[in-house]
Parts: sequence; structure tokens; C-alpha cells
Amino acid sequence: MRITGTGHASMRIDTAAGSILCDPWVNPAYFASWFPFPDNSLLDWKALGDVDYLYVSHLHRDHFDAKNLKENISKKATVLLPEYPTSQLEDELRELGFTKFLRTKSNQVHELDGGLKVMIQALISPTDGPIGDSSLWIEHDGIRVLNQNDARPTDLSIFAELGHVHAHMLQFSGAIWYPMVYELPESAKTAFGKQKRDRQFDRTWRYIDDLKADHVFPIAGPPCFLDDELWQFNDIFGDEGNIFPDQGVFLEEYAKVGGTNGIVLLPGSVTELSEKAATTEHPTPIDEFFANKQAYLEEMRERKAPIIEAEKASWRHPEIDVLGELKKRIEPLLEESIYMAQGVGGPVRFDLTDSFGTTGEIVESIVVDFPGKQVRPYADEKVRYRFKTGRALIEHLIFIDEGDWVNSLFLSCRFSAARIGQYNEFVYAFFKCLSEERLQYAEGWYDEHEKEVEAEDTQLGDWTVQRRCPHLKADLSRFGIVDGNTLTCQLHGWKFDLPSGRCLTSVGHKIRAEKNE
Ligand code: FES
Repeated sequence: MRITGTGHASMRIDTAAGSILCDPWVNPAYFASWFPFPDNSLLDWKALGDVDYLYVSHLHRDHFDAKNLKENISKKATVLLPEYPTSQLEDELRELGFTKFLRTKSNQVHELDGGLKVMIQALISPTDGPIGDSSLWIEHDGIRVLNQNDARPTDLSIFAELGHVHAHMLQFSGAIWYPMVYELPESAKTAFGKQKRDRQFDRTWRYIDDLKADHVFPIAGPPCFLDDELWQFNDIFGDEGNIFPDQGVFLEEYAKVGGTNGIVLLPGSVTELSEKAATTEHPTPIDEFFANKQAYLEEMRERKAPIIEAEKASWRHPEIDVLGELKKRIEPLLEESIYMAQGVGGPVRFDLTDSFGTTGEIVESIVVDFPGKQVRPYADEKVRYRFKTGRALIEHLIFIDEGDWVNSLFLSCRFSAARIGQYNEFVYAFFKCLSEERLQYAEGWYDEHEKEVEAEDTQLGDWTVQRRCPHLKADLSRFGIVDGNTLTCQLHGWKFDLPSGRCLTSVGHKIRAEKNE
């Protein structure tokens, strides 16, 4: 089996029974904030795209690159489609010209021509990717590969049960706006960032240890940020609170916990994988490449500047009545939302500036009032959640009829946020569900989930605790760690105060716990 690195979460896997291209992302995503690092735009995408199968793990724009899919990927390819609750991924791929789909069943092995076997696990909670994220397992000729991508299954046992895995690809770096965009003192941001960076690595070690594959490939990040306003997010300033460590740092950290089987793929690196060994050739020596990262990014910044400028020029639509349009689109959804609206529980304020981000004058303030079920001008009231961003960005979201503001505005990091009290995942869940189909799905999921999550118990230290984490149902008998009166679920690091059951990380999400006599 041959694995060719094609950047970020993308790779091409060649077997004697056919080739699979995964997540071919090249063009900048999220308001031109994220670029693939290292740059993969000079690869021969027409040749790479001439494949038998295409796997797009989910709709996040650093995995689903409409332009590259349209221009370079063969429409003869059969799409290996994850089993998602909505048809959006298939619809968008059809619109780009793909016509052949294998609709897989989640967690079921599908046998393709020539003895190639694939299994896709689809994760479908409202907080998994843009309502859906997935991992791809492949077997051919006795060699097994798990491309876990950036999915966060509660455990990997379903893959391990299919036989020893030879190559395990997984995310290890950050892919979120926290804590950088929060309006906090720098010292607090650094402390939160460091916690997050440590947690990312801990989670990665746990997954690696779960599967015990022969070889581990760090993939799916970090991106690089080339716009001047976002440049500080690149991990080149020795900031221990930076959540975007690169593959070179991964190798160093992995070595500290005894990991010796890591393989970094640069765009164009090729690994020949057999049951016994993996040999990799790189276009540039790896150590040298990461040692020169700063100069590499500076050169890339200059080269890509015209692309960013051209994108920026397309965002302003001053003729749009932002308040009126948001009223028209969001108020019917507020009316229908029960769980998420209750979960948000208060007004959310958007301060809109005359720039493309957080600088400049605030020219309009709008409140999405969840209890009042309306969108209205800000009325000088106290709000629990506040965002500040460029009016032009919201204009553009309205212009393109964007139904998922996480997969556009929030991942762009072109905003700042402030809140009173805890993180509230319902705020982000709602703004990724700005369509009837998604809203209904998410509401239904929360409805079912609330009933289901409480049933079983487990013993943790001196406590009897509900077995499933109130966040996303991780098995706390495996992921739960009790320290005094605090339980931490290691899957996403959420903390719970056991005597009161209160979630210390996010609003709501109470846990049932009782101290043993
Ligand atoms: S499942 Fe996310 S913190 Fe437990």
C-alpha cells in the first residue's frame, strides 16, 4: 500500500485494488483565514485527483474544498459517503458534478472490487463537525489503515476489533478559536491555551494507545494564518499557550512519552507500507523543513497576499439590511428551537464593525434574543454573550445564504468574544443550525440524548456516577478521572463538581453522582 501526503488531512492511498483520495483541501478556508500548512498548492492535483474513490470526511471547509473538488478531482470517482443524518454532503458533491456514490452504513465493513474493504464511522451529534464527522478504515491484502482524521470517537475498539492496524492517522493540533479570540488578559489566554495544548496531546496519546498501530501519522493540522491580522496565531513565537503546534513539535512531544513510530507526511511525501515496515521518502528533509518554518511562512505570506486581498474585496455588500435579513432568517428558527434556545438562555449580542474583524468603529449592534424569540437592535441591556466582528463578514454570510456560522465565521477567528460565566456550547450549536433541516435534527438529538444519557452508573473512586458523560456520552469508566470532588472527562476535558453535579466547563450538562457510604 502506498500513502502519499497531500497536505493537512488530505492523503492519497493507492492499493492494487484501487486508489482513494481523502479530503483534498488546497484553497484558503473560512474567510481566507486558514491555509494548508505546508503549502500543497503546487502539487499536481489533476494527477492526484485521477482516482477510483473519493472520501470527504465531512463538510468543514478544510476538508471539503469545493473549488478543488470541482476543478481537479475526477468525476468518475466513486464517493465513499459517510452515513449522515442530513443529505447535505451528498447534495453539495452532486452539485460539483459527482454522480457515483457508495452510501456506507456507519460501522459496517463494505467490500469493494478487488478485495478492498472500507468502513466509515460517522459521528452525528450536533457538536461533531458541521453535524457530522467521520473516520475511514481501509483493509487491503492484510494491511489495515485507520484515517481517524479529526473525528473524536469515544473509543477506537470497533476498529481494533477488525484486526491489528498498521497505520493510524489522527489529529493532534488545535482547530478552534479558543482561547485566542476571547477578550481576556494575555496571561489568562496563555494559561488557557497551555491547558488546551496539553489536553490535545493527552487525547492524542490516549487514541494512539487505544489502537497500538505500527505507525502513527499526525495529520489534520495545524493550518497556517497568513493575513496580517491573524499572523500571531502561527506557532512560531515560542508561546506555550499556542494551540497550533505543528508536526515537528508532535514528534518531539511524542518522543517524551516514549513514541518512536511517528511519521510526518509533507505534501509529496510517500510512504510504502507493508505488514512489516513503512519506508518514507520526503521532498525535503523533515528536520530542515521545520527548523526553517518562520522563513517558509513569511515567503508564503507574501506569495498568498493577493489571494487574501481578492477574497476580502468580495465580502462587502453594504446594500444588505443586516438586521432585517437576520430577523427574517433567524426568528422562525428561534420560534422552533426548544432545547438550544433554552440552553443559550439569554440574549446574544453582535457588535458589527466597519472593518473585516475586530478593529475599527462599531457601526451596528444587534441582539439575538433567545428568550424573547426575536432579533432586534441592542437596547443597552446586560447580555451574557457578546461577539464583535466585521459587518462585511455578516453581510457576506447573508449574501451566500450561509447556514453554518461555525463553518465560516467562527472558524475564521476574525472575531472576538466575551461572556459572563461559563462556556455555553448551545450558542455555537445554534449558529451552526441556521437551516430548518439542521435545526430540527439538532433539536431531536438533544431531546433523545437528554433521556438516554442518564441510565447507567459506574464507580469512580468513592463515587457512583452516571456512566455516560453529560457532554457527548463518553464512557466515564474509561475517560473519567476523579480528583477530590472534581471529575474530569478526558475526551474533551470537561469538569464536573461531584457533590453538586454542576458542570464546571459549560452551562447545563448536570451530572448525576453520589458519594458511596
Ligand atoms: S464527552 Fe466531551 S467531555 Fe465528556
